[in-house]
Amino acid sequence: IREDSREVSVYIADYIISRIKSFNPTPAQPFVLGLPTGSSPELIYKILVQRHRAGEISFKNVVTFNMDEYVGLPRDHPESYHSFMYKHFFSHVDIPPQNINILNGTATDLVAECASFEARIARYGGIELFLGGVGPDGHIAFNEPGSSLNSRTRVKTLAYDTILANSRFFGGDTDKVPRMAMTVGIQTIMDSREVVIVATGAHKAFAVQKGLEDGVNHMWTLSALQLHQHPLIVCDRDATLEL
Ligand code: GLP
Repeated sequence: IREDSREVSVYIADYIISRIKSFNPTPAQPFVLGLPTGSSPELIYKILVQRHRAGEISFKNVVTFNMDEYVGLPRDHPESYHSFMYKHFFSHVDIPPQNINILNGTATDLVAECASFEARIARYGGIELFLGGVGPDGHIAFNEPGSSLNSRTRVKTLAYDTILANSRFFGGDTDKVPRMAMTVGIQTIMDSREVVIVATGAHKAFAVQKGLEDGVNHMWTLSALQLHQHPLIVCDRDATLEL
């Protein structure tokens, strides 16, 4: 628990940097990092970019997998997660473009796209560290309430709560928010060797309470991490209000 979202972001950025450095990645054995979008990670990316510019960290031998993408939004749509990632992170660091993996929301065969994403993760030997956020309804990635805890990358219909929450990025118009997304599954996240979740703000407090203090269940998918061997949830004070 840290005081505010700035302290949370500094903590996580420094943590990721120290994990990459101690792993000592090479082109043959890169550090495989799972990444989220949303407002919670924005400051984390900003700090990572600052540290990179200060010469403290290189992403040359880092391979990334983004956890989700809207179905139907072309890559260059300003609200696609593809655009988000380039705007906030990839365009400002030295990661080779071929090391970046983001689901293609306009693929003609979405099922095949999801399967090939899982296959690529497997080819790299799995994800070393998965960074994620949490939705106010307790979802991780786009694993909405009711998602199977055994799920893998697939197409998911968004819950109305999520459409409402994410409409702020679409001028407040819920009609403009895509109805479906592709997302890594709960099992994909559980297979990662380490999971780091960022939760800041009072609007996350209920999800944090349900996820951490209730039993493991598929309605608050964050709760699956109670069974993970190496989870880390970093909260600000406001996100712990219901604990
Ligand atoms: C979206 C994303 C999630 C993210 C969540 C919370 O629905 N698919 O990966 O964790 O929003 O976002 P925010 O950090 O903006 O609250």
